[in-house]
Amino acid sequence: MEKTKKRIFSGIQPTNTPHLGNYLGALVNWIKLQDEYECTYSIVDLHSITVRQDPQKLKKQINESYALLLAMGVDPDKSTAFVQSHNCQHAELSWVLSCYTQFGELSRMTQFKDKSAKHPENVNAGLFTYPVLMAADILAYQADLVPVGIDQKQHLELARNIAQRFNQVHGDTFIVPEPYIAKTGAKVMSLQSPEKKMSKSDENPNGSISVLDDRDTIIRKFKRAVTDSEAVIAYREGKDGINNLMSIYSAVTDKSFEEIEKEFAGKGYGEFKLAVGEVVADHLAPVQNEFAKIIADKKYIDECMRKGAEKAFKTTRKTLQKVYKKVGFIVL
Ligand code: TYM
Repeated sequence: MEKTKKRIFSGIQPTNTPHLGNYLGALVNWIKLQDEYECTYSIVDLHSITVRQDPQKLKKQINESYALLLAMGVDPDKSTAFVQSHNCQHAELSWVLSCYTQFGELSRMTQFKDKSAKHPENVNAGLFTYPVLMAADILAYQADLVPVGIDQKQHLELARNIAQRFNQVHGDTFIVPEPYIAKTGAKVMSLQSPEKKMSKSDENPNGSISVLDDRDTIIRKFKRAVTDSEAVIAYREGKDGINNLMSIYSAVTDKSFEEIEKEFAGKGYGEFKLAVGEVVADHLAPVQNEFAKIIADKKYIDECMRKGAEKAFKTTRKTLQKVYKKVGFIVL
């Protein structure tokens, strides 16, 4: 069947409950793009074991992350929502692509350098080849567009290079994907150290907001957010904390920075932080209510996972066969 709509692929690791950065940087766009594009979204569990995981906890996280996608509005009929390890072709394509990726390219990946510095006791080969698996995820679906936060831009550039290289050697095989990076929310910073991105592995729990944090926790964390001593709500250099809060407020309310500056002119940081906390809590409440319903319905989750896996497999089979033929394997 000829493709009509352009295709989107994106993924999220199930290492922890998604935080506000994942949500505003990527997930809200996943939902928005579903009507216009043919979308495939994955809980990328294969990626998550590059860092040691507790198997019981991981299993629970995969289930919850998947349920959260549905709760946020990923429509399992309209889009394909699946768990990465349920489609074995990601790993197969990853092997082929790793033979088209240079050691030097992988050595330059900043996330590899950061993670290997953070876990010096476990600098495994998977951590090193992780971006090849990510390229396989994207290229297997012939994605035109990949909605991600800024931190994934380098990995996406590598995926483009791999696709171009393979196409050069073997003729047109892969679509060369473009990143889709939102104007606001593409880099949400830690509430405690606003010079660092909000991260699942932040040691300080007050630095990040989980999308499942309750209202009081959300408001408390925002009230404690680190700012500056200037007491002026304006977006400008040197005001990392306030810039971050303004970006979050803007991403959630769709208000521009000028509108926000006007709204809070002459008001104190306390009032502003409370307002940001409230809009975020209000925004997440319906997602949390929906999540509570879905997570209680194991049968529904399993059904959706199975359907997603089947759809995903069918799509990638075409690419895999094409790739195997191009490299000279015998396709039966
Ligand atoms: P992951 O699981 O770390 O993050 C999922 C998505 O959230 C974005 N993100 C952020 N956006 C704004 N501010 C932040 N502080 C922030 N932190 C994270 C990420 O950019 C990402 O879009 N390697 C990927 C998962 C992956 C993938 C893929 C993504 C695997 N295969 C194929 C796209 C396409 C990752 O670890 O994302």
